[in-house]
Amino acid sequence: MDMSLEQPAGATRVRNIDENTITAAVLARQADCPDARLKEVLSALITHLHEFAREVKLTEAEWMQGIRFLTATGHMCDDRRQEFILLSDTLGLSMLLVAMNNAKAPQATEATVFGPFHVDDAPRLPPGSDIAGGAPGRPLDVDITVTSLDGQPIAGAEVDVWQADEEGLYDVQRPDLAERRARAVMRTDAEGRLRFRTIVPTAYPVPTDGPVGRMLVATGRHPWRPAHIHFMISAPGHETLITHLFRDGDPYLDSDVVFGVRRSLVVAIEDEGDSARLRHAFVLQPERTAA
Ligand SMILES: [Fe+2]
Repeated sequence: MDMSLEQPAGATRVRNIDENTITAAVLARQADCPDARLKEVLSALITHLHEFAREVKLTEAEWMQGIRFLTATGHMCDDRRQEFILLSDTLGLSMLLVAMNNAKAPQATEATVFGPFHVDDAPRLPPGSDIAGGAPGRPLDVDITVTSLDGQPIAGAEVDVWQADEEGLYDVQRPDLAERRARAVMRTDAEGRLRFRTIVPTAYPVPTDGPVGRMLVATGRHPWRPAHIHFMISAPGHETLITHLFRDGDPYLDSDVVFGVRRSLVVAIEDEGDSARLRHAFVLQPERTAA
């Protein structure tokens, strides 16, 4: 006599699951997921995770090591430190997503990684400000324009800038520093132009005192990023641009630890005696309407 219990919706009769049948069993368990996109993403994640484990013949001890690594990555995160973004960046996943999701017209400024050092409460400063705020470094005069694809200047574009100082540290990496410095949010003028003063960026290593740093050491990788300044530029009717400008001549341009360099984003920093100058024209992609 068949005494099998009634199965809840979406369940399958899975007994004696083995390494070859478990993937289908897990996928069947979420067959009734009401969110189609969640189901698609999770199904692919489960399928690839299982296939990864089978491919490398992952041992239980190795997976426990992986869990300890991910746990340590989470424990390293707080309001000043984002180790998961660093992990995503150093694994190339961040740049893969940037490349997949930011197809633009050829004239539009290219995007690159966001990175872990942006803050939402940077000082809002008027054009012409010295945003360094006392951060050590050689003075740099920045002169940029922001235009549309058709060359029209974008007045009032919001320009969020952040960078490391001469010692390769962002303000949030200095535990004794309460104030924000070497970062600001400013706006372009009626001609789409913005000038401000800051400091010349220098190459810096990503933080190596956490699990991501240990991963880099264990895999024989250097932790360096070529010198750069971060920009996030937004204006109504345009896609928000998240990018960097990299300093031409930097020795790490071809081996950026987070794979973020684009040739079009490498710019000259011209020597002008006691200070230096950087000029660049940013071109924003118009907002896409849904297909
Ligand atoms: Fe950076």
